[in-house]
Amino acid sequence: MKPHTVTAHLNYFGELGVTGLSKDPVWRGRGAQARQKSAEVETEASVFAGTGSLEAIRSDLGECTRCKLSGLGRQQIVFGVGNPSAELMFVGEAPGRDEDKQGIPFVGRAGQLLTKIIEAIGQSRESVYIANVIKCRPPQNRNPEEDEVETCEPFLFRQIDVIRPKVIVALGAFAAKTLLRMDAPISKLRGREYEYRGAILVPTFHPAYLLRNSKGKREVWEDMKRVRGLLERGP
Ligand code: URA
Repeated sequence: MKPHTVTAHLNYFGELGVTGLSKDPVWRGRGAQARQKSAEVETEASVFAGTGSLEAIRSDLGECTRCKLSGLGRQQIVFGVGNPSAELMFVGEAPGRDEDKQGIPFVGRAGQLLTKIIEAIGQSRESVYIANVIKCRPPQNRNPEEDEVETCEPFLFRQIDVIRPKVIVALGAFAAKTLLRMDAPISKLRGREYEYRGAILVPTFHPAYLLRNSKGKREVWEDMKRVRGLLERGP
């Protein structure tokens, strides 16, 4: 393709709102098929990027059948809930049974604990935004699979880009590892801050882990104090 044709193409896609494909080196390191799929999905998601509202993202998602989870018993898509201009956003793994039933993230036992954690730093479910990496319940709450993540996460990226939170709390190993593209246990990832899509990302233990393992509560409280401090800090 001649250089001016390339420029015309880029301009055309620019006007459509296509902001480009992932340049993440870890992303590039994946298999060719996964790369191709991820590029297609991210392009699809990016094409809509000009229409920057949560409603537009939800509408683009539609009655999503892009991945196999749509045919594996999910009742509904669990998009996200809360303040569309929240300074603080929580990202979990995927809906569980209660969330799938109600269409709202973190409403089961783990969700009730999350609500208490949120309130402990002077916030509320209404002041923050809560979402998951995956918007449909995996069968038997199994871990989401790579193709499901690749298909679904561009919609989370768009949610983050529209909300533009100051701080994102990644709840649990799955969310932290997926967002950060880092393969380390949550006990190693937590305890520090990461730059992420214009926000500061703070990984912490998943509330479901705390329900089984009260030992992690002290660390979660430390992480949440860090979050509170970051929110209090100027822009
Ligand atoms: N666990 C999650 O990761 N997300 C939910 O919405 C509920 C439980």
